[in-house]
Amino acid sequence: MELDECIRKRISVKNYLNKEVPNDIIGLVLEAASLAPSAGNLQNWKFILVKDENKKADIAEACKNQNWMNQAPAFIIVCNDEKIITSMYGDRGKLYSTQDCAIAAQNIMLKAADLGLATCWVGSFDTERIKKILEIPEDVTPEMVLTLGYSEEKPEYHDREPVTRVTFFDKWGKKTDEKSLFPLGQTAEKYFKTISKQVKKQNIWEKIKSKFKK
Ligand SMILES: Cc1cc2nc3c(=O)[nH]c(=O)nc-3n(C[C@H](O)[C@H](O)[C@H](O)COP(=O)(O)O)c2cc1C
Repeated sequence: MELDECIRKRISVKNYLNKEVPNDIIGLVLEAASLAPSAGNLQNWKFILVKDENKKADIAEACKNQNWMNQAPAFIIVCNDEKIITSMYGDRGKLYSTQDCAIAAQNIMLKAADLGLATCWVGSFDTERIKKILEIPEDVTPEMVLTLGYSEEKPEYHDREPVTRVTFFDKWGKKTDEKSLFPLGQTAEKYFKTISKQVKKQNIWEKIKSKFKK
């Protein structure tokens, strides 16, 4: 799959088909995770794959009762073995170690999308409970739980601010209306076209114009 298609297809899915994901497919996803960049190439991640129904149920409960998670046939918990990095980079290493796990998680989600699978990043959980369920050592932190399975949902578009609104040039807050910047200009145009279509549909524009004519 093209990278762009893959990025666009990755959405958070909370409805899964009752269908196992073969181990060799999960293996490809985990391999993609291990290819993520990391500070000093220290690879401070460990991945815990959970398929056991009882364990999944306990985890979903520890994720503030997000029961929808149980539909997914597998969970991947990305764990942060922080000490590997902090011993090298001190306090700054704490940030690096979380960032490393986040990139690995993104690789998991993108590779899953590439293979026709769906995921959802779950960050809301009781860390101590997850550690207990999975027997994670004291000095290792579960960073996120990723649900993995086949989607039952129709793909939806991302609900995002246009990139032109979240990008500054040269300094904080400085925007540009430079049209030649690709794909920024095109994305913004698409956004404004959608908005103006919606406005037309609702006849709002005509109402505004007639108001000004008076
Ligand atoms: C750090 C982080 C924590 C998240 N925690 C949860 C969560 O606990 N439960 C959940 O349903 N979704 C969670 N999500 C998924 C987001 O809600 C989702 O990514 C966001 O709404 C954008 O939608 P999209 O992923 O479909 O583009 C989390 C995402 C991130 C990055």
